[in-house]
Amino acid sequence: MNIILLGPPGAGKGTQATRLVAERGMVQLSTGDMLRAAVAAGTPVGNKAKAVMEAGQLVSDEIVIGILSDRLDQPDVAGGFILDGFPRTVAQAEALDSLLAAKGMKLDHVIELSVDEDALVDRITGRYSCAKCGEGYHDRYKLPKAPGVCDVCGSAEFKRRPDDNEETVRTRMAEYRAKTAPILPYYEARGLVARVDGMADIGDVNRSIERILDSGGRSA
Ligand code: AP5
Repeated sequence: MNIILLGPPGAGKGTQATRLVAERGMVQLSTGDMLRAAVAAGTPVGNKAKAVMEAGQLVSDEIVIGILSDRLDQPDVAGGFILDGFPRTVAQAEALDSLLAAKGMKLDHVIELSVDEDALVDRITGRYSCAKCGEGYHDRYKLPKAPGVCDVCGSAEFKRRPDDNEETVRTRMAEYRAKTAPILPYYEARGLVARVDGMADIGDVNRSIERILDSGGRSA
């Protein structure tokens, strides 16, 4: 099963993708994570993307389609993947169709997480993660059990994303409305879109997604 999780910044795409990886053994393909890894490694792609990401704007289609295409060549995607943060423009959606067709793959579902944007600013500006294992936390909603120590690996080092400040989050949301939301009609025309209330409890959102995946649904 191959799916896209779609929604604005902070909608819960990464949170839900992580759950599906654990529950179903699917592979999470997060272009945001791939770009952050490129920035951290100081690769030519990372150097081009860094300032754009920190400003909350979209990295060029050419760069993102290139990294996604390389990732789709890895054998582990054959067991099913979750696209998290891709596609983000109609051009990326069209490129994805071509890439999948060339590999004999198809999309099964596009799941849109519907959310209230004002609540998302609070979700994003409060989040941080363990610098060692990546476990996610939130200033109000999910604190480590022992203050300052990661529940999973015991590390005392945490980090915040440089694009998780309010001004940049507002730019990311505007980018979503202008460039990413127009993707929905592209997939709706093929009967692929299912909507989930992304404001519900994380477990309830997960159960709603699981029901959609279990329902079969139409394929592209
Ligand atoms: P990316 O990394 O994709 O970031 P994003 O889309 O802005 O999404 P986030 O990771 O911020 O949010 P999320 O929906 O995953 O929410 P999460 O689960 O973490 O992209 C970053 C940048 O990279 C872009 O701005 C762009 O520059 C570039 N980029 C990436 N892909 C690109 C592409 N295809 N084209 C061009 N540029 C690209 O949840 C957020 C918080 O809320 C967490 O604390 C979580 O615990 C909490 N939470 C989640 N669900 C719930 C819930 N139901 N109730 C309460 N709290 C919840």
